[in-house]
Amino acid sequence: MRLFLDTANVEEIRDLAWLIDGVTTNPSLVAKEKRPFEKVIKEICDLVDGPVSAEVTAMDADGMVTQARPLAALHKNVVIKVPMTENGLKAVQALAADGIRTNVTLVFSANQALLAAKCGASFVSPFVGRVDDVGGGGMDLVAEILETLQNYAFGTEVIVASVRHPRHVLEAALLGAEIATVPYTVLKQMFRHPLTDVGIERFLKDWEGVPKSGR
Ligand code: G3P
Repeated sequence: MRLFLDTANVEEIRDLAWLIDGVTTNPSLVAKEKRPFEKVIKEICDLVDGPVSAEVTAMDADGMVTQARPLAALHKNVVIKVPMTENGLKAVQALAADGIRTNVTLVFSANQALLAAKCGASFVSPFVGRVDDVGGGGMDLVAEILETLQNYAFGTEVIVASVRHPRHVLEAALLGAEIATVPYTVLKQMFRHPLTDVGIERFLKDWEGVPKSGR
């Protein structure tokens, strides 16, 4: 399973660059950084050798393609994030024809994922946390998408997004999702277990009682 970091914060990415396989950003995450978009994307690409999603904000297909081309030209690892709309999928088709990879975002149904895959999306991003927020089953959505796409050879990979806690990542892995994109704080939590901390403390304390060799 590949783990992406869901952030536009370069410090967070630098800290975990040794571990992660890619990065996803979105307009809200970029806005938090208060820095020029293209500069942030370029810096991220220099830190991580894997797909880096940069989202278009135009709502018409031509506008999306026009925004996408210079973004894709920033670095070979840039993936264009496109919203799941009819126009978005027209843009995905056009970009796929030019060999530009896309990540269809804001996916909330398996039918949306199916259409995106048919149009040549490289990735689809179901938002599990936001489904859970409104009382739905985010992981049921992921299971349905995986089952649907596995029936065909689209070559579209599933990025489990809107991850809120470590359990989401584990459940994504148990379902065999190719990728989870994880906020920094959640990825940090995944390293830890209270019994690991207690165990280390006890080993170090007991070690103090071991006679030193004297050499
Ligand atoms: O990057 C898209 C997604 O991960 C956003 O998550 O927490 O705003 O629902 P969230």
